[in-house]
Amino acid sequence: PIAARVGDLLKRMTLPEKVGQMMQLDSREDLDDHVLRKHVGSILHTSPERVLRAHDLTSRTKLRIPLLIAEDCIHGHSFHEGATIFPTQLAMAATWDPQLVEQVARVTAVEAAATGVHWTFSPVLCIARDLRWGRIDETFGEDPVLIGELAAAMVRGYQGDGLADETAILATAKHFAGYSETQGGRDASEADLSRRKLRSWFLPPFERVAREGCATFMLGYQTTDGVPITVNSWLLDEVLRGEWGYQGTLITDWDNVGRMVWEQKVQPDHAHAAAAAVKAGNDMIMTTPQFFEGALQAVEDGLLAEEDLDRAVTRILTLKFELGLFENPRRPDTERQRTMINHADHAALNLDVARRSLVLLKNDGVLPVRKGKIALVGPLADDAQTQLGDWAGSSGQADWLPDGQPRDMITTVLDGLREFSEVTYAQGADILTLEPDPEGDTFPDGQPRPKIVAPCPPNAELIAEAVAAAQDADHVVAVVGDRIELVGEGRSTATLDLIGGQIALLDALAETGKPLIVVLLASKPLVLPESARNAAAVLWVANPGMQGGRAIAELIHGLIEPSGRLPISFAAHAGQQPTYYNQIRGQHGTRYADLTQEPAFAFGEGLSFTTVEYSDLHVDKAVLGPDETVEASITLRNTGSRPSRETVQVYVSDAVTSVSWADKELKAFQQVDVAPGESVTVRLEVPVSACSIVDALGNRVVEPGEFVLLVGPSSKDSALRRAEFTVKAPC
Ligand code: IFM
Repeated sequence: PIAARVGDLLKRMTLPEKVGQMMQLDSREDLDDHVLRKHVGSILHTSPERVLRAHDLTSRTKLRIPLLIAEDCIHGHSFHEGATIFPTQLAMAATWDPQLVEQVARVTAVEAAATGVHWTFSPVLCIARDLRWGRIDETFGEDPVLIGELAAAMVRGYQGDGLADETAILATAKHFAGYSETQGGRDASEADLSRRKLRSWFLPPFERVAREGCATFMLGYQTTDGVPITVNSWLLDEVLRGEWGYQGTLITDWDNVGRMVWEQKVQPDHAHAAAAAVKAGNDMIMTTPQFFEGALQAVEDGLLAEEDLDRAVTRILTLKFELGLFENPRRPDTERQRTMINHADHAALNLDVARRSLVLLKNDGVLPVRKGKIALVGPLADDAQTQLGDWAGSSGQADWLPDGQPRDMITTVLDGLREFSEVTYAQGADILTLEPDPEGDTFPDGQPRPKIVAPCPPNAELIAEAVAAAQDADHVVAVVGDRIELVGEGRSTATLDLIGGQIALLDALAETGKPLIVVLLASKPLVLPESARNAAAVLWVANPGMQGGRAIAELIHGLIEPSGRLPISFAAHAGQQPTYYNQIRGQHGTRYADLTQEPAFAFGEGLSFTTVEYSDLHVDKAVLGPDETVEASITLRNTGSRPSRETVQVYVSDAVTSVSWADKELKAFQQVDVAPGESVTVRLEVPVSACSIVDALGNRVVEPGEFVLLVGPSSKDSALRRAEFTVKAPC
C-alpha cells in the first residue's frame, strides 16, 4: 500500500513540488519561503517552536505533505535546552559496550522525538587516524570492527522497534566514506584513498550498519581522487546500491551541491551541480537553497529528466509513509517533553556511561585517594561547556543555545570533588583567546569563518596561586586538555600539545613534589608533556558529558572501578602521525631518527585498580576450513583485591598475505567481570570468514595458510597471549 500511496501522490505533484521535496533547509532562516515557495521536504536545526510553525505552514500547502524534521542529536539531543547530554561518541567508544551505547541512542531518540524531531545525523562511522583532525571526538576511534559494532548498536537504539514507533528516529550513517582521511588532519581536505583502501578499512563499518537497517546515509564533503563523494558513482551505485543492495535514503552534507560550484569548482553553475547530484543518486539535498532554481533550470535545459527526480522523491515520500507522518506528523509534545527530557532514568544512564568511559592510563598506586586535602587546579576543572564537548548547547558548531546547557545540570570536576573531599581550587593557567580571521568574516555560503585561536602565555600569578594550593594539600588533581574552541568541524589543530599556560603549570606542580593526578579532559588524544608522563596518575576522560565531574570524582576516590579502554592510540609527538595500531606492516616498524614509532598509549589500553592475568589461551581445533569458526578459550585471574571489568580483546594476525596488510586486527571483544581472587574461563569465537584481507584486485578473501590468534587486555604485543591455527584451502 505504501508504494501505491507514493505513486498516487507523485502523480499529483508539480515539478517545483518535486524539487522542493528533495530539499532540506535551515529552520532558522525564512521558514515561510522554505515551506510556501520552495515546498521543502525537510528542515534542520530546529526548536519545538519553529517545528510547530513549520507544520502550520505545511497545512496551508496544496498537498500538505508532512515535513521531515532533522537535528544533529549527536551524543544526546544536543541542542535542546535541558536535554540529557551524554559523553561524546569517542568517550562512549571507550566503554567498548554496544549495549550501553544502544541505550544512549534509545534515550536520545525518546527525548528528541518528544520535541518533534524525526531524524538524527548520527552515528559517525569515520575512522580516526590523524589526531590533528578536529572531529576525532565525533568518531568511535580507529578500529573498523569496534566502530561497526558500536555504530550498529546506536542505529538499533535510534530506530527502536521500527520506524512506525512514535519514539523511533531515523539514524544516519555518516560521512560516507573516507572523509576522515584528511591531508595534514585538515577538515574536509582531499582524501587520498584508493578503492582498495576504502574496501579494506573505511567501508566495512558502513556495510555493517547498512545491513543493520540504518535508514539514511550522509555523504562526506570531500573529494577523493578528484571526484566529490557527492557524485562518486562507483561508491554510490556500484558498491552501496549494487553490492550491498542498500535501499535507504541518501542525504548530502551541508551544501555539498553548492560546494561543487563555489569551492571544488567541478561544476559551472547550480543547474549542472543539481543535475550531477540527482543523477548520482542523492535523495535529500542539505542546505543548498539554489538547488530549487538550479534543478528547475536543469530540467528545462535537458540536463535532468523529471524521472530522475521521481526516483529521489519516491524514496523520501516512502520514508514519510513508513514513519506514519501522513497520519501523525509527530508534532512536539509538551507533556512528553516535561516528563521525558532528562528523566531520572536518563540521568542515571548518563552517569553510568560517564563512569564506564574513563580510561586510567597510569597509576603508581596514588589512586584511589582515600583521605586528605585536594588541590584542584587547571583551567578545565570548572569548564562546564567544554566538559559537554562539541555538539552540545552553545559549543562548537553554532549558537543554537546562546548560553549553552543550563549550568546547574552539569557536574564539573570541581562540583564533583567537593562532594567527597576538602578541595582548594586554583585555575593555574589560561588556554586561549579568540581572534577574528583577517581573511574575511564569512564563507561564500554565508557561514561564519572560524576564528583564529591564539594560545595564552603562561601566567606567573595564576601558577603561583596553584603552587600555593598544591603545597597546602595532600594530593594535586590537575584538569588540563583542549577547550571547546579547539574542537569540531573546521577546527583541526596543527599541534597536539596542551596549549596556553598548561605545560608550564604542570611543570610547576611537578616541582612541588606532591602526588600529581593528571585528568586529561581532552576531546582527543593529546601529547603529554614530561611532567604529565611522570605524574603519579593519568586519567583520560575525553568530554564526559553532564555527569562527568561526578564520575571522575568517584573514580579518584575509588567509589567505582576504572574500566574504560582506549578506542584510539595516543601519540608521543604530533609529528608521529599516524599512530593507529593496525597500520600496514613494514611501515609501522619504521622509526623516525629522533623518535620511535611506539604510541604513548596503545589502542585497547586502560588500567583497573587491580591486576588481572591472562593465561592458557587454547584453540579447540588448530586446522580449519574456510567456513568454520575458530573456537578458543582463555583464563583470566584477578590477582588483586578489587573487582575488574575486563575487555577481552581478540586479534588475528595472518602470517603471509598476498598484499601487504596490518600485522594484527581486532576481530572480536567481550566484557567480563572478574572478582578479587577469582579465575574465569572465557569462550571466544572468530569466524574464519572474518580473517580476510582485500587482495590486489579489490576482492575480500581469506587466504589459506598460517594465522595467529592473539588475545589479551590491549593491542600491545607484550599484553597478548598467542595460539596458532591453520586455514585449509577450500576442497
Ligand atoms: O550533520 C552535520 C555534518 O556532520 C557536518 N555538516 C553539517 C551537518 C548538519 O549540521
